[in-house]
Amino acid sequence: MADTTGLQLLSKLDADGRLTVSLAEQVLPAPTRHEVLLRVDAAPINPSDLGLLFGPADIDNAEFADGTIVARMPDPAVRAMAARHGEAMPVGNEGAGTVIAAGDAPEAQALLGKLVACVPGGMYAQYRIVDARACMELPEGITAEQGAAAYVNPLTALGFVETMRREGHTALVHTAAASNLGQMLVKICKEDNVGLVNVVRNPAQVAILRGIGAEHVVDTSSDSFLADLAVALEATGATMAFDAIGGGKLVSQILTAMEQVANEGAAYSRYGSNSAKKAFIYGALDLSPTVLTRNFGFTWDVAGWLLTPFMVKIGEHGVERLRQRVRDGLTTTFASHYKARVSLEQVLTREAAVDYNARRTGEKYLIVPNG
Ligand SMILES: NC(=O)c1ccc[n+]([C@@H]2O[C@H](COP(=O)([O-])OP(=O)(O)OC[C@H]3O[C@@H](n4cnc5c(N)ncnc54)[C@H](OP(=O)(O)O)[C@@H]3O)[C@@H](O)[C@H]2O)c1
Repeated sequence: MADTTGLQLLSKLDADGRLTVSLAEQVLPAPTRHEVLLRVDAAPINPSDLGLLFGPADIDNAEFADGTIVARMPDPAVRAMAARHGEAMPVGNEGAGTVIAAGDAPEAQALLGKLVACVPGGMYAQYRIVDARACMELPEGITAEQGAAAYVNPLTALGFVETMRREGHTALVHTAAASNLGQMLVKICKEDNVGLVNVVRNPAQVAILRGIGAEHVVDTSSDSFLADLAVALEATGATMAFDAIGGGKLVSQILTAMEQVANEGAAYSRYGSNSAKKAFIYGALDLSPTVLTRNFGFTWDVAGWLLTPFMVKIGEHGVERLRQRVRDGLTTTFASHYKARVSLEQVLTREAAVDYNARRTGEKYLIVPNG
């Protein structure tokens, strides 16, 4: 088989703080052994992709010319990202595509002509070589668009409930809860009968979550936010939180409210309650410092949470069990919705870039690299 040539989206940060995002031609050799060659049909733009594509660079004031974006990265970020200086990095964690060539291993040959989803990185490209063993064949009747986001958000949302059970908690708090992932979590918790306190930041998001059946939704923009939070924590017994925001005081407020609920009716202790309270920060929607006002005793924990180490922790069989659940619910529990479908060239226009970089509720973009 001859080499295959296609476009690939690259993000390069130079040591002087100049971020360049552009398309380049990529030559892919014929796949060998367990490899398969995918024609990439659809790939979502998720917040974690934007972290690599743009990071905190100033996209609103970037230059858009000749199919290239040039933006300034703030100095602290330039220093923090020294390891990527000068390297043109392929972007796009996950997506779906059609297997158009395969290596000689049986696992690879079995996928020839099939539509698969995978999370290899570098999916903002027309073609991509991936390991057949890391691909999920999409069920009959599922389109590339329906399968494009079958990994990152579904497995993360399922991972929250799994983590909760493993660590001995019984209900959850979730922030930025009207997100694509948050809406999946609402459905999972209903199916599994797990209490969930959804924290959002405006009344429209309350309405979205109520519309899909969420029972406890509290709004940080409401004057009664802290009181509403305490009521919802009391009702659910939630002592574990997953926070996508990271910056600001919300994690602290949640731990404080958990402690307040734990202390109701108890005798005063200057050490606080013995109720284990844990908050995982799993996103960085707000890059400002995380502010903890430690008025929640001493039995608490704030930690980071990332999908990949979680998958390593639960092992191959654990991951396969979750993947099966995702496969079965791609058009229901794990359905993603898109505001726009764009080509690789359109990704590099000002109109699109400023819009998808805003990460607004219900406004996710899907890249269709082959039209
Ligand atoms: N750790 C992991 O392994 C992992 C895996 C998957 C996803 N994630 C994270 O999960 C989060 C959700 O992903 P997604 O694809 O579901 O997102 P999404 O659908 O693009 O939605 C983003 C949501 O965040 C809200 N938001 C943005 N900035 C905010 C801020 N400063 N304060 C409060 N809310 C804010 C938006 O609300 P508005 O409309 O009000 O702006 C919107 O509801 C992201 O942070 C992503 O990085 C992490």
